[in-house]
Amino acid sequence: MASNKSLLILPGDGIGAEAMGQVRKVVDWMDNRRSVTFDVSEDLVGGAAIDRHGVPLADETMDRALEADAVLLGAVGGPKWDNLDFSIKPERGLLRLRKEMELFANLRPALCFDALVEASSLKPELVSGLDIMIVRELTGGVYFGEPRGIEDLENGERRGINTQVYTTSEIRRVAEVAFDLARKRDGRVCSVEKANVMESGLLWREEVSKLHGEGNDDIELSHMYADNCSMQLVRTPKQFDVILTDNLFGDMLSDTAAMLTGSLGMLPSASLGSVDALGRRKAMYEPVHGSAPDIAGQDKANPLATILSFAMALRYSYDHGEEADLIEQSVATLLKEGKRTGDIMAEGCELLSCSQMGDALVRKLDEASA
Ligand code: IPM
Ligand code: MG
Repeated sequence: MASNKSLLILPGDGIGAEAMGQVRKVVDWMDNRRSVTFDVSEDLVGGAAIDRHGVPLADETMDRALEADAVLLGAVGGPKWDNLDFSIKPERGLLRLRKEMELFANLRPALCFDALVEASSLKPELVSGLDIMIVRELTGGVYFGEPRGIEDLENGERRGINTQVYTTSEIRRVAEVAFDLARKRDGRVCSVEKANVMESGLLWREEVSKLHGEGNDDIELSHMYADNCSMQLVRTPKQFDVILTDNLFGDMLSDTAAMLTGSLGMLPSASLGSVDALGRRKAMYEPVHGSAPDIAGQDKANPLATILSFAMALRYSYDHGEEADLIEQSVATLLKEGKRTGDIMAEGCELLSCSQMGDALVRKLDEASA
């Protein structure tokens, strides 16, 4: 008998734990009601790992992540660890996972649920039906470029250094992912950089264009400067289908795109590596939002982004697209029925706690599959 698929859960810090508690309910539901069963294990990352091991990601945890069929991460960071040395901050745990698992393609869908159109800071007509996919390069660029550091100068000043650097292969492999995704969507890729100012941006533009000419010209490719893209996202967001961009610009643009949909608390993401000889691809799934220390531990958080991240895992890592659909449809129904956590609360809706939202979702799953 084939063994179960493995899932490593890393709740992390802040609201990560309470959100993950709700995912556990969905995982149990999949096991009980759909016979979709996972070998679930749990470990520490971020501040939680610092408190236990003195480092934001223990080597054993890294090894387990490399072994797992998929990793589901909550969130990392919080004021408690803000003053630690840069090299052992909670965020370094997350960055180490991305780097050592070689998760170079970060998929951040910005999808506006009909029921949440009013929650957006933009006019309803601008965001209703919005469906953008941001493909963010995740293991290169200024996040990892060398040299980096803070150095003392002879004149008594200090100098902070980071390096924006991309190679041909780094650009091509993530662009490939964007073209493939566009093919299953509206067939359009907008590649975003600052080719007017940065050589790495110019190289990005040239390599993406070249790859487009090598068998991808069924896709409509356009290029845009990152500053313009940030403006266009809040002007006419629906002009975009797939946005392809580097690590830093992707970090910024994905927060903007997320807010268009009403709340950061709604958006999942998938980080994927390349497909190996056995057809397996390393993957980590995480909500786009952070650890929200201000509401952590109060059972107020919106668990839907983390639950939707698990749905993405079902689709991209476990080949259970049907179950992923079921979760996504149940979330849409819940929202339509006016169930809300505080971040997306609106007049006439029913305010739920984090755990109530988890329970409500499980009931919806029951109904949907009855
Ligand atoms: C994100 C976050 C991370 C990033 C932080 C927590 C390191 O903002 O996933 O968007 O900058 O990539
Ligand atoms: Mg970010």
